[in-house]
Amino acid sequence: MTTSVWRHILRGIKSSIIAPPVGTGGTVSAEYCYSVYLRHMVIADQHGLATSPKTIVELGPGDSLGIGLMGMLTGAEQYYALDAVRHAKREENIRVFDELVKLLKSRSPIPSGGEFAEVLPTLDDYSFPNKILNEFKLAQTLAPERLSRLRLALESELTEGPIRYLAPMGRTNELRDNSVDMIISQAVMEHVDQLQDTYSECFRCLKHSGFMSHQIDLRCHDTAPEWNGHWKYSDLTWRLMRGGRPWFINRQPCSAHLGLVKQTGFSLRAEIKQPGNFGIAREQLASRFRLISESDFQTAGIFVLASKPA
Ligand SMILES: C[S@@+](CC[C@H](N)C(=O)[O-])C[C@H]1O[C@@H](n2cnc3c(N)ncnc32)[C@H](O)[C@@H]1O
Repeated sequence: MTTSVWRHILRGIKSSIIAPPVGTGGTVSAEYCYSVYLRHMVIADQHGLATSPKTIVELGPGDSLGIGLMGMLTGAEQYYALDAVRHAKREENIRVFDELVKLLKSRSPIPSGGEFAEVLPTLDDYSFPNKILNEFKLAQTLAPERLSRLRLALESELTEGPIRYLAPMGRTNELRDNSVDMIISQAVMEHVDQLQDTYSECFRCLKHSGFMSHQIDLRCHDTAPEWNGHWKYSDLTWRLMRGGRPWFINRQPCSAHLGLVKQTGFSLRAEIKQPGNFGIAREQLASRFRLISESDFQTAGIFVLASKPA
């Protein structure tokens, strides 16, 4: 075993003794949240889906609820944020909310390039999506009394009201059947252990014609030098590397996600694959991944857009 694997195993062991620190990175930045939400909406619009969701669910919001707050600031009335860990703090949510309001009021273009160069999915056009968020709509959604009401909600414990934060161990069973217009996640589905149950729950909660939009990062998340190096570890090594962490990487390849989405009954509206470069050689794959298809072996990320049939 290499030094780096031992380092990961030691980290895994440490996590079994001391609770690992909370915090994930991305959503601390309002611009990141703004960029992610608008990218999902632009692609939904390109595929003929309704871009005025009233009830939205976000899986794995991370350090702030900013992605879902973008949904609220652009017209949603109810937002459920479900996370395995309660990362987001009240002050961060309020700071990000205020910054999102400024970005929307100035109709800022969708952040891309520079520090956002790696944010996925990519778009052809990063200008402000006036077609989805026209002046009439934004005048209503950004009305001062509406903003005050949402900001006040963020001051609360978020256990009831228009913004509900179901974490830690957020579960969809609190959500009624056929009650949600849109489910969104960014860099989350690759971490979910109960993948089949989660896609089934998404199906159950969504209204007919509602949709889910997931950007899934299939890379190794720093567990190896190569993007697909997580597929070279045996199950035992992987278990040791995970240790007591509440969430890790499920190591499922692209076809596993697409297969479950279709098997659950969704109609797949878009699948945008991101290829990986400079990965491990096939001979290095652990036995359980040896039969992985060439397409899976080359796919480092996937954007999945799927609707529940009407
Ligand atoms: C890489 S972070 C992404 C955070 C945020 N979406 C972003 O774009 O920065 C992964 C998130 O997924 C959450 N997560 C992991 N397993 C989960 C599960 N089974 N259900 C809901 N969230 C989960 C983690 O707690 C974390 O907030």
